[in-house]
Amino acid sequence: MKERIMFLLQMIRNNKINASITPSSRFLAKQMIKWIDWKSIDTIIELGPWTWIFTKHIIDNIKVGTKIIVVEIEDIYVTHLKEKFGDKIIIEKSDVKNIDEIRKKYNIKKIDLIVSWLPFIPAESIHDKLKIYTSQGTIFRSFTYHPKKFRNIYAEFPVNEVGFSLVNIPPARVYWIN
Ligand SMILES: C[S@@+](CC[C@H](N)C(=O)[O-])C[C@H]1O[C@@H](n2cnc3c(N)ncnc32)[C@H](O)[C@@H]1O
Repeated sequence: MKERIMFLLQMIRNNKINASITPSSRFLAKQMIKWIDWKSIDTIIELGPWTWIFTKHIIDNIKVGTKIIVVEIEDIYVTHLKEKFGDKIIIEKSDVKNIDEIRKKYNIKKIDLIVSWLPFIPAESIHDKLKIYTSQGTIFRSFTYHPKKFRNIYAEFPVNEVGFSLVNIPPARVYWIN
């Protein structure tokens, strides 16, 4: 409930950043990380994690030693994530457009998995980097409430649709690369 209120307050304040009317469900979180071979994942960057629902699903699945870096721009979510997870994850309060600086800061040669909850505009700001990472084998997972727009925006990427969460309001589709 606390997350829902936090989300609504943020939405009223700045809906360009949240780009959604309700927090995504745990069903969507499950779809987003379906079929990942966690044994082969050493480094994860989660973009725009919002509150804790999605990050918790990742933490519940990783093997010991996997590094999770979450990149979040909003203070309110950063504080909440710190309270919830402490040092289980690395929290970078930053704009996602700095993803490559963040990768270098933590000495990551290859990001094994990127999970993105970002709205379209900040997501587009990393497309050039995403092209490089995915061509090197990085697994990418994202979702949308607007499949046609998503496919247009990701036209240059080999995206596959892997899931559909009807339980989510509004219904969401999940996409992957690699
Ligand atoms: C609303 S949300 C989360 C996913 C989803 N739309 C939902 O219903 O839960 C988008 C997230 O991306 C974050 N975000 C937006 N723009 C960002 C940026 N440029 N850099 C980092 N995080 C950003 C927001 O603060 C928020 O945590």
